[in-house]
Amino acid sequence: MKFQDLDWNQMWQEGRKGKSWRGRKKEDWDKRAPSFAKRNMESLYAQRFLALLQPEPTWAALDFGAGPGTLALPLAKIVRQVTAADFSPAMLKILNQEAATVGTNNIRTVQASWEDDWQQLDIEPHDLVIASRSLSVKNLEAALTKLNNWATKRVVISDRVGTGPFDPDLFAAVGRPLAPGPDYIYTVNLLYQMEIHASVNFIDLEQKRIFTNRAEAMESCRWMLHQINPEEEKGLARYVDQRLESLPNATVALTRRTPIRWAVISWHK
Ligand SMILES: C[S@@+](CC[C@H](N)C(=O)[O-])C[C@H]1O[C@@H](n2cnc3c(N)ncnc32)[C@H](O)[C@@H]1O
Repeated sequence: MKFQDLDWNQMWQEGRKGKSWRGRKKEDWDKRAPSFAKRNMESLYAQRFLALLQPEPTWAALDFGAGPGTLALPLAKIVRQVTAADFSPAMLKILNQEAATVGTNNIRTVQASWEDDWQQLDIEPHDLVIASRSLSVKNLEAALTKLNNWATKRVVISDRVGTGPFDPDLFAAVGRPLAPGPDYIYTVNLLYQMEIHASVNFIDLEQKRIFTNRAEAMESCRWMLHQINPEEEKGLARYVDQRLESLPNATVALTRRTPIRWAVISWHK
């Protein structure tokens, strides 16, 4: 077998077929928007992503798949202007509300999907283009080409390492198979075949998280289990109770065995 014969885009597409979560629709992301925002705003993930990004104050940035503004909002405090694009109106609504609350007025939101004609939507090339945890596309090569074409200075994307935020122990506890699909290594190799030599850094998140009570800890896991049934609910409770410890200040800590790791892949134009 020769390395050159491997088609990473096709292998990525094949790998996604057996995935536990197929590409969610706009309506699914709309429904998830409030809980996603609650979990991710002001997260350590965003702080660490921005630390790796090192943006220039003069830059204009395009954040594709921006969600509720996990990165667009803090980034807007650092750079000249941010265009935040996402196909979910509910995500963009939260982003706009939050921007108004904190008095940020240099973010333009655009409802757009990966497949849309970005030119028609007046999305111009930007100095910096980012796509954080949002490469949920049918054709990875087409998406990477688009990001590359829309950046004039730098592209920074993040992708799952292994199971990423999904905890294999939780899936085992509820008796569901976990098939996370292709991770970052496909993206890096595909970029290489596109003659883009990217740097890879990693973000590791804490395995221990603090909650006000058990119910909140249970709630924090539920997003991983779409349409949970009563039997699975018992498995979820067992999983939480095995990992929960009470802290002296009347809060609780939930510790997972496997770390959450994200790959941050970046290149200069
Ligand atoms: C996991 S969230 C990431 C949000 C944010 N970038 C972050 O890192 O917190 C993925 C986002 O991608 C958006 N998304 C998914 N598929 C999309 C598509 N085909 N076109 C545009 N946005 C999409 C979702 O609406 C969601 O806001």
